[in-house]
Amino acid sequence: MQFLWFTLASFVVLLSVSLTTSVPIEEAFNHCLKLHSQTPNQFSSSIYTSTNGSFTSILESTAQNLRYLLPSLPKPDFIYTPLDDFQVQAAVICAKQLGIHMRVRSGGHDYEGLSYVSLIEKPFMVLDLAKLRAVNVDIAHNTAWIQAGATIGEVYYRISEKSSVHGFPAGLCTTLGIGGHITGGAYGSMMRKYGLGVDNVLDAKIVDANGRVLDRAAMGEDLFWAIRGGGGGSFGVILWWKIKLVPVPQTVTVFTVTKTLEQGGNKVLHRWQTKATKIDEDLFIRVLIQPGNGSVPGQRTVTTSYNALFLGGSDRLLQVMKHGFPELGLTRKNCVETSWIKSVLYIAGYPDGTAPEVLLQGKPTSKAYFKAKSDFVREVIPEKSLKTLWKIFLQEDGPLMIWNPYGGMMSKIAESATPFPHRKGVLYKIQYVTGWLDGEKSMAKHMSWMRKFYIHTTPYVSKYPRETYVNYRDLDIGMNQKNNTSFVKAWSWGYRYFKGNFNRLVKVKTKVDPSNFFRHEQSIPLLPTAKRG
Ligand SMILES: Cc1cc2nc3c(=O)[nH]c(=O)nc-3n(C[C@H](O)[C@H](O)[C@H](O)COP(=O)(O)OP(=O)(O)OC[C@H]3O[C@@H](n4cnc5c(N)ncnc54)[C@H](O)[C@@H]3O)c2cc1C
Ligand SMILES: *[C@@H]1O[C@H](CO)[C@@H](O)[C@H](O)[C@H]1NC(C)=O
Ligand SMILES: *[C@@H]1O[C@H](CO)[C@@H](O)[C@H](O)[C@H]1NC(C)=O
Ligand SMILES: *[C@@H]1O[C@H](CO)[C@@H](O)[C@H](O)[C@H]1NC(C)=O
Ligand SMILES: *[C@@H]1O[C@H](CO)[C@@H](O)[C@H](O)[C@H]1NC(C)=O
Repeated sequence: MQFLWFTLASFVVLLSVSLTTSVPIEEAFNHCLKLHSQTPNQFSSSIYTSTNGSFTSILESTAQNLRYLLPSLPKPDFIYTPLDDFQVQAAVICAKQLGIHMRVRSGGHDYEGLSYVSLIEKPFMVLDLAKLRAVNVDIAHNTAWIQAGATIGEVYYRISEKSSVHGFPAGLCTTLGIGGHITGGAYGSMMRKYGLGVDNVLDAKIVDANGRVLDRAAMGEDLFWAIRGGGGGSFGVILWWKIKLVPVPQTVTVFTVTKTLEQGGNKVLHRWQTKATKIDEDLFIRVLIQPGNGSVPGQRTVTTSYNALFLGGSDRLLQVMKHGFPELGLTRKNCVETSWIKSVLYIAGYPDGTAPEVLLQGKPTSKAYFKAKSDFVREVIPEKSLKTLWKIFLQEDGPLMIWNPYGGMMSKIAESATPFPHRKGVLYKIQYVTGWLDGEKSMAKHMSWMRKFYIHTTPYVSKYPRETYVNYRDLDIGMNQKNNTSFVKAWSWGYRYFKGNFNRLVKVKTKVDPSNFFRHEQSIPLLPTAKRG
């Protein structure tokens, strides 16, 4: 048996070498998959090349940022959509053997399109996990095994189907793929109570760079640590997560209260910066900041919308607000009592009365050309400085900022417990977004506004490093680095996404993927050769 295996293995190697020189890579890949198939007799492949009529619709299906679908951007040579764990395993083995650069896609929400565009290498393929979306909820044990291609909305729905008093603390946007989402942290409206998605992961199954399927016990604690926040596409292909469910009350309360600058919005926002981080952990109040119409026709103002989830009923919420944040002036009329699963729809912005089954559609509902960035704020921004920011904010057509409170459980988890380091001392996170619809036409203008606004906020946000959320991938970081060696460049974003944890991520990466098979524009780098040993 052993002998036969070795003969077969060397046969595959020989074959692959000769195939790469004579046949298209997708054919070589297909052939290799067949050799590794569990059921070679019924082997049918799902490889889509650019000449296949379904190629474009599959490529575009979950791609969230239209900026990365522009015709001028590189397209994969082919897309492979595996149907089970074995096929994912075979895909890694074959891509590695044939030297095909691989991108892995779960939900396609990457801000810089890293899961379906390679700006650094050609040819490349996309391993699209969209067909792997099982969600197996085990209420008796407060756990679920969830497959990488499922959306977080599907996970929420399947939990709520089995219990109205269980939930999971992850993203607000319900179409995120859990393969990429949880890998980078995963925050949502229960983070102040239960922490991030990664803080509630118990086990995982991955395909590593050697094509082995490993669970937590087999991969070891270093790698298990790295995949819980170190960002997607660096350590292996996540097949499954095992998550811990958290308790949610039968009745929760949501509200949205909007104030313009003219209605005293600036003062309230100034207060929010300290109050929203100290208030009861059951309460999460984020602020959506956008341009709006002033009372004078034709004049633009800034609107601030306080959008909240409270894990309890409105009576207690009103008490909490009376003592914790009276400046907002919340009234009973503002409060909507509902179930946790309906609060998910509310916070995600679905229209009133949308049925929870919408969560099963499993792909993005709207797409745009967009650019985004993020910051963490550790000191209150003075009222006067807020006013100067609004001037530059209003220079853009459709800017959006989302301010997201920290504190609570987020302060109780050590910076090094997971690669996600933005914990104690963070008051809130800012996300900046600008979107547009006319493609390349106005792109330069919007990109340049974003970069300019980001320079203007520098004095008010975290420093040394200027912290940034890895799940809000930003390829601007490190671009202007004078020392252009790739490791030095990687430090400029690595330290900002992970702070001191970057060192450990680099060590784990060097150990588990020494040939750097899993790589992209901002994947965790290997230790420079001289320092390895
Ligand atoms: C509209 C929108 C709303 C968002 N809201 C939130 C939010 O509320 N909270 C939050 O925390 N984040 C949020 N995000 C950010 C989101 O968490 C990240 O974009 C996340 O990476 C998306 O995961 P994905 O699987 O959908 O993306 P993909 O584009 O498929 O993947 C993202 C990255 O992970 C890699 N990857 C994908 N699948 C796997 C896998 N199975 N194994 C290993 N690597 C993999 C990819 O190669 C890529 O590098 C939002 C993003 C968008 C566009
Ligand atoms: C496209 O690819 C799929 C999967 O490999 C295959 O089933 C289908 O027949 C192809 N269609 C065309 C028109 O080639
Ligand atoms: C602001 O005014 C413009 C022009 O009157 C109108 O088209 C737009 O819908 C208004 N926006 C909001 C948010 O009310
Ligand atoms: C760094 O290198 C990249 C390509 O390797 C190049 O495009 C870029 O201009 C360089 N940047 C600087 C500041 O030299
Ligand atoms: C850039 O950084 C590398 C690694 O630290 C160092 O070896 C090299 O000398 C630096 N180059 C320049 C031009 O400073």
